Amino acid sequence: MSTENPTSGHIEAKGISVRFSQNGRSFDAVSGVDLEVKPGEFVSIVGPSGCGKSTLLNIIAGFLQPSEGEARVDGAPIRGPGGDRGVVFQQYSLFPWLSVRKNVEFGLKMQGVPRTARESKARTLLGLAGLLAFENHYPAQLSGGMKQRVGIVRALATSPQVMLMDEPFGALDSQTRVVMQEILTNMWQQLQLSVLFITHDIEESIFLSDKVYVMTARPGRIKAEIPIPLPRPRTAEMTSSPEFLAIHHQLKALIREESLAAMGGELGEAGLGGKPWHLGTEGVRAAL
Ligand SMILES: Nc1ncnc2c1ncn2[C@@H]1O[C@H](COP(=O)(O)OP(=O)(O)OP(=O)(O)O)[C@@H](O)[C@H]1O
Ligand SMILES: [Mg+2]
Repeated sequence: MSTENPTSGHIEAKGISVRFSQNGRSFDAVSGVDLEVKPGEFVSIVGPSGCGKSTLLNIIAGFLQPSEGEARVDGAPIRGPGGDRGVVFQQYSLFPWLSVRKNVEFGLKMQGVPRTARESKARTLLGLAGLLAFENHYPAQLSGGMKQRVGIVRALATSPQVMLMDEPFGALDSQTRVVMQEILTNMWQQLQLSVLFITHDIEESIFLSDKVYVMTARPGRIKAEIPIPLPRPRTAEMTSSPEFLAIHHQLKALIREESLAAMGGELGEAGLGGKPWHLGTEGVRAAL
């Protein structure tokens, strides 16, 4: 592992707002968001469902333009998707008709990289992820955790400086998730990437990150920026340390407030009144 500090992969978003229209009404999904991922940093975003986490990630991936504000990678405004940013989603988006190695090679093939060079790169990355023995398997022959590892390796194949990950381990069981977290941390350190990671799992966000952003309920704003000063490498034992538990407690309280606000907003929009946790049995009956 190189000890030099990475110099690229710097994400900056300033004053990002996104306005969507749904059923003839327009609303702000995200409002005035500033965020930064420094080169080589691992940053997570947590927040209630619907607060605009995926929307923000899609802006940085270049799939969506903000209504206001600007996002930059290494100083250059983001105008669309690019090989400098690898993206991994919750659903495994592998090509079922291609073998594991061909899936990983796909982006390189599109870039015109010759066969031997792309085979060798794919095999190196598959080795790092413990998947070399499966290079000739097809996605249908793999477990969920393996598919997601292939998805990560595929996103890494074009040597991005930045990885954008939207709940990549959301569909995995908790044991597989822990293994995936270790594999990801390992690859992040070896490849000196910057990572922007979305998760619903507070423990996961603390375990992986240098910094966690907490978003408010819709319209999503940054409610808090929590540094995670735990030493690296992180270990399973650390998750029961007083420092870890104190951060966990703080994040949980911040997110709980916003989840309640989000549920209140949704019920309000559905004509069911504002505060579900105050409805009581009679209130629920009346609402239904
Ligand atoms: N293309 C779109 N058109 C209209 N509304 C959209 C669009 N994409 C997202 N939204 C709305 O914007 C809000 C934010 O959505 P987003 O998917 O970013 O939330 P999220 O924080 O990722 O939620 P979750 O945790 O459930 O994945 C939601 O109310 C969603 O319904
Ligand atoms: Mg989402």
